[in-house]
Amino acid sequence: MEATPTTGSPGGRVAVYPGSFDPVTCGHLDIIRRAAKQFDHLIVAVLNNTSKKPLFSVEERKQLLAEVTQDLPNVTVDSFRDLLVHFMKSRQADVIVRGIRSVTDFEYEIQMASTNHQLDGDIETIFMMTNPKYSYLSSSIVKEIAMFHGNVQDLVPPEVQRALIAKFSESAGANGPQG
Ligand code: PNS
Repeated sequence: MEATPTTGSPGGRVAVYPGSFDPVTCGHLDIIRRAAKQFDHLIVAVLNNTSKKPLFSVEERKQLLAEVTQDLPNVTVDSFRDLLVHFMKSRQADVIVRGIRSVTDFEYEIQMASTNHQLDGDIETIFMMTNPKYSYLSSSIVKEIAMFHGNVQDLVPPEVQRALIAKFSESAGANGPQG
């Protein structure tokens, strides 16, 4: 699903929620739902990072995100390859949304927010506290549990659970979780 560029007018505030989303978890989805209420248009942007070897391809990650957000009319899914601030400009977005799970996230997030603001002074980062229910959750943990056939039912949306089961039965344990 491609994001439709908007005008960025006061009546149309566009925010971007960037990440790896390999795969999207219930923690991510909680942030998406809450952020979608705060902005006219929320773009969930998947980083297409060629230096990492993800479990799911960018297309698979986008597809899963599109499926789990299909009931949210102001949310679109897109991907980007280089600097986030360049992608933001191309979509006329000026707010970055990031979730914070704990103090351990904080240092990295501050560094990213400051870097992005340095690169483009018009861009603000807004942090949302992750629902405490999911404060321990990460895509890496989900992949590890799924790889060893543990139950991820409460950690990811059903579409993602199905995709994880398919992925690990397809690879028959040959590949470990990446990233
Ligand atoms: O889900 P993640 O992996 O924590 O997301 C990190 C992400 C994708 C938001 C970050 O790595 C990013 O924005 N990368 C794009 C490159 C960039 O713009 N770097 C400069 C700011 S740190």
